[in-house]
Amino acid sequence: MLRVVSAAVLAVAVILPATLASAGPIEDRQAIMKGNGRDTKAGGAMVKGETPFDAAAANKILANYAAGAKAFGKHFPASSKTGGDTEAAPAIWDKPADWKAALAKFQTDTAAAVAMKPADAASFGKAFGLVTANCKSCHEAFRIKKG
Ligand code: HEC
Repeated sequence: MLRVVSAAVLAVAVILPATLASAGPIEDRQAIMKGNGRDTKAGGAMVKGETPFDAAAANKILANYAAGAKAFGKHFPASSKTGGDTEAAPAIWDKPADWKAALAKFQTDTAAAVAMKPADAASFGKAFGLVTANCKSCHEAFRIKKG
């Protein structure tokens, strides 16, 4: 009996992460962006001195950005142009060269920010600024703000 129960628990433990990861492309890309939002809030507070500079946390934020930048573009199949509460703009599919360029810039800038390995608030501010310039430019071109 015990063995049956633990097998069932194991099965659930294995299936659950797979289910979460495949909620759908819209949810997956929004989850990456939600992470960007959280990290930008925390990073901005450090840059402004509202929270003390923490090198480990700062470099983790930059690493998160870089990982997100690499993964983000994989979640835009043609079937996900509309649906859910997506704010993705049609330009993503109508201007694929511009979209690819925006993704590539985000990847280049986040990788450069990681490589800067900031050890104080001032150098983190530079790396953070390099990354966050992408938020605005990409949103202006490729995100429709609802509500
Ligand atoms: C390469 C383009 C691009 C870059 C760079 C980018 N975003 Fe986004 N962002 C998008 C798109 C497209 C959406 C809409 C996704 C959807 O709803 O399907 C979005 C949505 C969001 C959302 C809303 C997520 C939700 O649904 O709750 C937040 C928050 C966000 N971005 C924050 C950021 C921050 C912070 C940065 C910079 C660190 C950033 N983004 C950089 C394209 C980008």
